[in-house]
Amino acid sequence: MAAISTKKPANRFSKKQQLQFYKVITHIGSLIPLVWLYIDYYTYNLGVEEVNAAILRTGFPAVILLVLSLAITPLNILFGWSILGPLRKPLGLYAFLYAALHLTIFVVLDFGLEWGAVVTEIIERRYATVGFFSILIMLPLAITSNKWSMRKLGKRWKSLHRWVYLSAILAIVHYILQARNDYNWPFALAGILTFFFIIRIEPVKNKIVAFRKERAKQRKLAAKGA
Ligand code: HEM
Repeated sequence: MAAISTKKPANRFSKKQQLQFYKVITHIGSLIPLVWLYIDYYTYNLGVEEVNAAILRTGFPAVILLVLSLAITPLNILFGWSILGPLRKPLGLYAFLYAALHLTIFVVLDFGLEWGAVVTEIIERRYATVGFFSILIMLPLAITSNKWSMRKLGKRWKSLHRWVYLSAILAIVHYILQARNDYNWPFALAGILTFFFIIRIEPVKNKIVAFRKERAKQRKLAAKGA
């Protein structure tokens, strides 16, 4: 009877092709909520409170994409998926796009460009204050998410982009504060973000990476022995 090989089959696709594939999936996946919203708007499927529906349907993808952009490093630590690194930027930028649309719909369609009322809402309502700071932090990050800024800012670029964590925390607090009865999603996201933070703690991270490398080594040895 032929021995069963424990060797991993060689991937038929190069790293570049795999990354290209993940990038296409990221772009398509990130644009789906926008296209869907557009279709529902033109087919009168947003319900009676269509402005509110549009606010909710841009806020939700914004926070999801923001959390997904923060999942890239933990996924690398946990599974060694370093190939996903370049997806952080498009995910972060799409999060910003949805957040900007969210705020624009709020200011233009909900408040009819009444700036005084908008400012009062942001100052007086806690959910809006927190949301405002979340998007305010995202702005310089989106502007500097290019190679030129990376070169110009040097080491400071990394420190600046660490603020994305605070932006995500504020986005989730905003989500919790505006939720009236359904807290499942915001608390699930808060849990996921906490998990990401724990994984990134240096000793925890080192332990996970060492464990993963040891297992890979053992698997290689077992494959050689087979
Ligand atoms: C000045 C900034 C912001 C304002 C004024 C604002 C305003 C609002 C309003 C009015 C709602 C709907 C409340 C309701 O009718 O139930 C909402 C919901 C929401 N916003 Fe914001 N928002 C801001 C920033 C952000 C940012 C930066 C994010 C994410 C990155 C975000 C994510 C969300 C989410 C996830 C929801 C709930 C969506 C759902 O329930 O499906 N918002 N926001």
